[in-house]
Amino acid sequence: RRIAILISGRGSNSVSLMEAARAPGFPGEIALVLSNRPDAGGLARARDEGIEAFAIDHTAYADRASFDAALHEALVARDIDLICLAGFMRVLTSEFVERWSGRMVNIHPSLLPLFRGTNTHQRALDAGVLIHGCTVHFVVPELDAGPIIAQAAIPVVPGDTAADLAVRVLAQEHRLYPQALRMICDGDARLENGRVVFSEGW
Ligand code: GRF
Repeated sequence: RRIAILISGRGSNSVSLMEAARAPGFPGEIALVLSNRPDAGGLARARDEGIEAFAIDHTAYADRASFDAALHEALVARDIDLICLAGFMRVLTSEFVERWSGRMVNIHPSLLPLFRGTNTHQRALDAGVLIHGCTVHFVVPELDAGPIIAQAAIPVVPGDTAADLAVRVLAQEHRLYPQALRMICDGDARLENGRVVFSEGW
């Protein structure tokens, strides 16, 4: 499996995926790291690892459709099989999402279906939940609404700030995303008729 990671910023999840994929016998290869922002931190790190990495600057495109078309072309030209969104902050058109249906996953910093969208840690605090976490899911056109592949939870304790939760959830993201990617590459979690099907034994 040839994997592309799409990022917009810091790129710490892309680093955890690249590190995991270096393990002998990992069932996929990170072939490309793409950013919509030229200044994304994850790009330099990918190049250090010998992975092709560049930006497709969304500000250079007139609309979402033309940006997504350029993205699609870059991915197809490199024989990419699977896309991992990792802090990718652009909404993708439904045309793009449909083209990659079952072959594109995302990590979201909440226990979906709670707290879709941004600012999840503050919203978790405001809601008073005592358990919070992160979710890896297949991407569907509706934002953060796709079928769930894996989740990890953390307790929320008195005195926690949004920044505290962000740190603890991010540590779980770095553990969860590589695990989920392995499952997907092995075919142990796949999208069928809009639902995730897990292999026996999971
Ligand atoms: C992560 O919390 C991810 O779940 C969210 O954006 C953040 C990206 O962090 N979608 P990084 O760029 O991977 O460090």
